Amino acid sequence: MTIARGREAAPRGLRWFRADAARLRGGARRLDHEVTETVTTTALRGADCRLPTLAFVGAGRAGTALAAAAHAAGYRVTAVASRTPASAHRLAAAVQATPVAGPVAAAMSADLTVLTVPDAAVTRLAAVLAASGMSLGGRGVLHCSGALDRSALAAVRQVAAAAGAVHPLASLAGAAGAAALRGSFFAVDADPVLRPWLERLVEDLGGIPFAAARLDRALYHAAAVLAGNAPLALLERATTLLRAAGVDARVAEEALTSLLLGAVANARRLGVRAALTGPVVRNDAGTVARHLRALEHDPASQELYHHLACETLAVSGVDGRDEVAAVLASPPRLRATA
Ligand SMILES: NC(=O)c1ccc[n+]([C@@H]2O[C@H](COP(=O)([O-])OP(=O)(O)OC[C@H]3O[C@@H](n4cnc5c(N)ncnc54)[C@H](OP(=O)(O)O)[C@@H]3O)[C@@H](O)[C@H]2O)c1
Repeated sequence: MTIARGREAAPRGLRWFRADAARLRGGARRLDHEVTETVTTTALRGADCRLPTLAFVGAGRAGTALAAAAHAAGYRVTAVASRTPASAHRLAAAVQATPVAGPVAAAMSADLTVLTVPDAAVTRLAAVLAASGMSLGGRGVLHCSGALDRSALAAVRQVAAAAGAVHPLASLAGAAGAAALRGSFFAVDADPVLRPWLERLVEDLGGIPFAAARLDRALYHAAAVLAGNAPLALLERATTLLRAAGVDARVAEEALTSLLLGAVANARRLGVRAALTGPVVRNDAGTVARHLRALEHDPASQELYHHLACETLAVSGVDGRDEVAAVLASPPRLRATA
């Protein structure tokens, strides 16, 4: 498919768009011919000299991964600011950017400023930009928080910037996290003028954008935390139990990580329900009872096991699993204290 890129008239100046060139030729949209180009999808990245420039505020895990990925995708990162100057210098050196002292200098240097800071700092930084009095007309400011929507950046509109929120549903741990962005879904919530830039950015990072305006962000983020973070807490606890069972520490962690990866791969291939295995699904009630007894010395682990076994039963269905349902309805420790 041939994609036409260009800018068209918008209420507040020009805005970027991308569209199927064949449809445009049919007269669906009028172009500003001075800045319109036609390229094939495969040649898009190399041919494009109009990518927005980026500045990052917050040189932690997400900032490092996103800046590295954007740099590798051909975006120019102009500046990096962070709370600790050494962090800003480290990331700036990695992406050929200039370390700057604060968010205002960063925002003045780029088309898009990405706030990759803890949630609590997002609104504070937007207020700092608003209070600067510097015009950010034609520029955008976005954050990457899962728990906040773009309204957290409402203050930047006072200095004429557009606001956006781009949350990668990915687990990012530094520069190596850049690879984790490929194939990840990104929730995009942006002022309309910013949306084409942000969707394009996500696609250039190898991600898949989806519209995220009007989401219940707390619920959305709680779900992301359950899927993205909780399995690792579970893995840590399971590793401790495996070591207590007598398995060497290094083998324990590697073996259980492989087990988890296999289960997740099955879920991706077959769907979660079809991929479920284990004693609850098999209705091996005696085995589940033995597990619960083995965990009696460790009430927190027993409670966790019991809770997740009940959840597994709910997902797989009680039908044909009466025995295991009976064991879970009255686990050993609860029986002992009843
Ligand atoms: N990590 C992930 O997997 C992931 C995934 C999706 C979205 N996110 C989002 O990305 C954002 C950052 O998360 P993270 O995991 O990257 O956290 P992080 O590793 O703790 O990094 C946060 C960075 O922000 C800097 N910082 C803190 N307060 C600041 C301020 N007032 N001004 C400038 N810089 C400040 C810190 O500075 P110094 O190091 O300089 O002291 C740190 O480098 C969050 O909104 C999070 O929801 C993270």
